[in-house]
Amino acid sequence: MQIIWIHGFPLNSQIFEAQRKIKGAEHKTPDLPGFGRQPPAPAIQGIGDYATYVLASSPKEAVFAGLSMGGYICFAIARMAPERVRGLILIDTKETADTADGRKGRFDMIEKVQKEGIKPVVESMLPKMVINESLKPKVRQIMESSSKEGVMAALRAMAERPDCSDLLPRINAPTLIVVGEKDTITPPSDAERMKNALPNASLIKIANAAHLSNMEKPDELNAAVEQFLSRHHL
Ligand code: MLT
Repeated sequence: MQIIWIHGFPLNSQIFEAQRKIKGAEHKTPDLPGFGRQPPAPAIQGIGDYATYVLASSPKEAVFAGLSMGGYICFAIARMAPERVRGLILIDTKETADTADGRKGRFDMIEKVQKEGIKPVVESMLPKMVINESLKPKVRQIMESSSKEGVMAALRAMAERPDCSDLLPRINAPTLIVVGEKDTITPPSDAERMKNALPNASLIKIANAAHLSNMEKPDELNAAVEQFLSRHHL
């Protein structure tokens, strides 16, 4: 089985370096347009366009794993092509749309990025990404490699993404939810709400980890994924 690992914002596939060691699956870690090695693409107008982009290079059936914005993209994939989703791994993410304040904050940030480049995004988000100080230089390097156009397109796509609460009860694919106990962007309460709404989900909370729980505690996350794959014969 292939696992397609979809990164968060404003990050790239390097965040999943440790997940490539997970046994029993083949791993694909695409960079989304405008992030990592992938140039920005004018075709990206909304979250659904990232889903189309990921699906275009994915096999007929796969396990889709998304961290934060990657999770928003997983929900778009589950809506567009449920028959291709054999399993879901939702890491530090949520199904709800932005609040009105959250949306306004994204549009204010787009204006700032237009004038100042991506520095304001990096400075505002880095403190919330990890609690382990030794990981911050690496996370900063990953964030700083994002393109201005890619960051603006993703901010707009996230601001306009639909609420997916209605979708959860219809997702029958086995789902593993993972959340860092210290995640303040998508806290454990979001993960618990998703677990309760999904028909076939289990939830793992990772102690002493914030938003990038997969980077902070790779061994715990990898073990949980290996168990998930074997329990569901994926
Ligand atoms: C992410 O990590 O992808 C972002 O924090 C998601 C968001 O800003 O909603």
